[in-house]
Amino acid sequence: MSQSLATVAYLGAAILFILSLGGLSNPETSRRGNLFGIIGMALAVLAAVFGPRVSSGGIAWIVTALVIGGGIGLYAAKVVKMTQMPELVALMHSLVGLAACLVGFASYVDTSVQYQGAEKVIHEVEIYVGILIGAVTFSGSLVAFGKLNGKIGGKPLLLPARHWLNLAALLVVIWLGRAFIHAETVSGGMLPLLVMTVIALLFGVHMVMAIGGADMPVVVSMLNSYSGWAAAATGFMLSNDLLIVTGALVGSSGAILSYIMCQAMNRNFISVIAGGFGSGAPAKKSGDAAAAEPQGEVTPITALDTAELLRDAKNVVIVPGYGMAVAQAQHTVNEITRTLRDKGVNVRFAIHPVAGRMPGHMNVLLAEAKVPYDIVMEMDEINEDFPSTDVAMVIGANDIVNPAAQDDPASPIAGMPVLEVWKAKHSVVMKRSMASGYAGVDNPLFYKENNRMLFGDAKKMLDEVLAALKA
Ligand code: TAP
Repeated sequence: MSQSLATVAYLGAAILFILSLGGLSNPETSRRGNLFGIIGMALAVLAAVFGPRVSSGGIAWIVTALVIGGGIGLYAAKVVKMTQMPELVALMHSLVGLAACLVGFASYVDTSVQYQGAEKVIHEVEIYVGILIGAVTFSGSLVAFGKLNGKIGGKPLLLPARHWLNLAALLVVIWLGRAFIHAETVSGGMLPLLVMTVIALLFGVHMVMAIGGADMPVVVSMLNSYSGWAAAATGFMLSNDLLIVTGALVGSSGAILSYIMCQAMNRNFISVIAGGFGSGAPAKKSGDAAAAEPQGEVTPITALDTAELLRDAKNVVIVPGYGMAVAQAQHTVNEITRTLRDKGVNVRFAIHPVAGRMPGHMNVLLAEAKVPYDIVMEMDEINEDFPSTDVAMVIGANDIVNPAAQDDPASPIAGMPVLEVWKAKHSVVMKRSMASGYAGVDNPLFYKENNRMLFGDAKKMLDEVLAALKA
């Protein structure tokens, strides 16, 4: 493939990626968006493999790597459950970071192209910055993976003088950068490069360890953004325009998503990065037994009585959460919705921006179950309607409907906007036990007079509710 043909293919792929992002911004166009992304990526890979920079001898190596990597990816996509997706995404971000580091070291030791003067400085800055971002992304994403799958505790690790430690690390990295660029030989520059890599790896670990459980959604999207910048840096090192464009798209869209999520959680982006949120006041730490212990009496309800409440209601709002994803109850939820709507009940869904374990988690599940998009509302669109709602049905959600976020300034989730289900005439919370949610705090909603608890697996209980509704 000639250089000009490869450039045209790259341009086409870049346009397809932009169309893909545009499509993914709306559930109705997301399938098309996904398709654009797949075609764009296929085009990009073909243009890279058969482009002018790969010799015919190299193709066999690339195809072998593609088959192995593609096989592992296919297997992972098949076995990983929807609820484990954020962990998988974090792991994939770490691979992008690792790739940026490896490409950086390879470009540095590759002396086949001799750079001179300003060009040499630019090339070395690209390598240095690329490895720096890559190493932070790599180790930070591995820690995020550990925190998301519970292997590492959710509590923030707050080292004394941690901000000074970070500042000192930054100054050392700048000083090492100067030494690296002034080095006359590759072996002379290798030591500062290696020391900087170790510092960046430690910084990545420290940065994510300092972030509390409640801020993890923002961290995942922030690392997504970092992985984009790491890919863009790789693009600069390899002089690959498409990698630069793609990396910049991922980097900037990840940054915008992090910003939107911070707004949704009423958090300041800088304080998320600075870490510590989710620790709460000293007496009530996230995950502390005291914070998570049940603090009152609850009133249970049966599936039969729940069906009765729903049948008598005019307005019903369903609030899905992580538990609906675990129970895979979305199809039964759709059946119940259809049955109620056939009976003339106005059923709508209230989606909290951080419900579940990844951005858009609930929207994906509801779309999969074919719930009509026009009854799926964002938190801001529906929160005011709870006082005129007869039944708010909370399915496996906990933190996102916790009134303590508004009422208890000492709560670890204080200030996070929540769905005000307790303002409905009745609320029914479906979960298996009195266990706390992701943030590890007790939920005063459960003890409210107008609240009922329907204990059991969400899918099983909803099947019973559906059967009762149809009877
Ligand atoms: P959570 O607060 O985690 O609560 C989920 C509840 O579902 C649990 O209390 C659990 O109680 C129940 N549950 C689990 N399996 C169930 C099953 N099979 N049947 C019925 N109930 C089940 O979830 P949420 O309200 O969706 O809030 C999301 C939380 O995750 C927030 O704290 C958010 O910050 C965090 N987070 C979000 C994201 C993104 S981007 N969305 C990413 C990482 C973290 P039982 O064990 O008693 O059943």
